[in-house]
Amino acid sequence: MKANASQRLNLGDFAGMERAFERIGQLGPEDYADWQAYARSGRDAAKARDLEECRRACKRCHDAYRATYRRTRRADPLREAR
Ligand code: HEC
Repeated sequence: MKANASQRLNLGDFAGMERAFERIGQLGPEDYADWQAYARSGRDAAKARDLEECRRACKRCHDAYRATYRRTRRADPLREAR
């Protein structure tokens, strides 16, 4: 999914980014309050063909959640087992 998002971004493939942001939105943990908003702002930026704003949407979510996500979800054995 991430390889996908990065590739779309590098290619300037806005339709692909729109789908990637939508998919990311669906995959968000429910307790991450702003996740959906970040994913939506990215999708809207892709719709508007605004590459810089897409980049910012990626970054906003990464700044807010990536570290926590990695810390709390990567090593969750329950998650592995499901
Ligand atoms: C709504 C949140 C959110 C958005 C928007 C988002 N990401 Fe991420 N991204 C994450 C999280 C959380 C991780 C950490 C995932 C992990 O480590 O398992 C991550 C990890 C990554 C990684 C590291 C490689 C990997 O697979 O872990 C790359 C590269 C990446 N994102 C690219 C992008 C790009 C490019 C965009 C925008 C087109 C984007 N992301 C938008 C949440 C987001």
